[in-house]
Amino acid sequence: MKILVFGAGANGKACRAYIKRYKRDEFAGFLDNDVNKRTIKDAEGKESPVYRPEEITNLQYDQIWISNSSRTQVLEIKEQLKKLCVPKDKVFVLLDDQEALVNVLSNYNQYDELTDNRVVWLRNFAGYAKEEKLEGNVAECGVYMGEFSYFINRYFPDKSLYLFDTFEGFDEQDLRVERSHNSDVFLKSIFNDQSFFAGANEHIVLERMLHPEKCVLKKGYFPETAVDVNDQFCFVNLDMDLYQPMLAGLRFFYEKMCSGGVILMHDYFHPELPGVKQAVTEFEKERGLKTCKVPIGDFCSIAVVVP
Ligand SMILES: C[S@@+](CC[C@H](N)C(=O)[O-])C[C@H]1O[C@@H](n2cnc3c(N)ncnc32)[C@H](O)[C@@H]1O
Repeated sequence: MKILVFGAGANGKACRAYIKRYKRDEFAGFLDNDVNKRTIKDAEGKESPVYRPEEITNLQYDQIWISNSSRTQVLEIKEQLKKLCVPKDKVFVLLDDQEALVNVLSNYNQYDELTDNRVVWLRNFAGYAKEEKLEGNVAECGVYMGEFSYFINRYFPDKSLYLFDTFEGFDEQDLRVERSHNSDVFLKSIFNDQSFFAGANEHIVLERMLHPEKCVLKKGYFPETAVDVNDQFCFVNLDMDLYQPMLAGLRFFYEKMCSGGVILMHDYFHPELPGVKQAVTEFEKERGLKTCKVPIGDFCSIAVVVP
């Protein structure tokens, strides 16, 4: 069977890797509306073509897999394919098949262990934490598919790893607050969409872990899911993108960190997510302190080192 994958983002790449690994079917290329994407390299550096949806009539295929994790985008793509006269029975939506979704996504990690700067930083920090005997457990707030959590679990094998996520994407109340800030860049960004991260689930996350027995799953709205957590922590990754939950994360974890522990604020430098930096500023104002912050060399994170 010849399969075209709609969406040349991380989920699309996971589909390609899955189809190639099992070799039952043939990966025939990507479809994507982004005119700037022409080819996408795989893990071996081999290029795959990216076609415009309008080119479908010239392509041979048996099935089109819609890989997007956003319900809104899936509906738009289905409509687009209908207009291009693609038969309904040739369209497969990854989000609609839980078993396929877990299989495809839990076997793929977009972060490369050797070259991803955040992963390299984490590995070094975990080694340092061990040498320095930093006490406490580890956590990630904003887990999504668990791709970064996988490395936290791997590099801190002896520590309990708390995993906080709605697994249903952003919460409407957080989005309301974000929209009320009236930042044009956010309002026009892909993040201004409740369903943008709705395609993940806890099964994908736990399936990929090396030490699942160390994971403590906290599914639901953060900080409500944290009320019974009183542990000390040496490393926390805050990656919930929006002002309100990121501020809640700082308020919750700051006093629970061991001396020398780090709260990593993902997206601090992200141009489309200004709420993250605002959350840090607000936290510092509330507490009347200046936190010790160090960029880690990836494109958007800052480490808050707790004294
Ligand atoms: C950018 S993704 C996390 C990516 C992940 N850390 C990684 O590196 O692969 C953001 C996640 O935060 C979650 N999230 C946002 N606000 C939340 C809240 N108030 N409570 C729980 N989860 C939340 C979303 O559901 C989404 O899965």
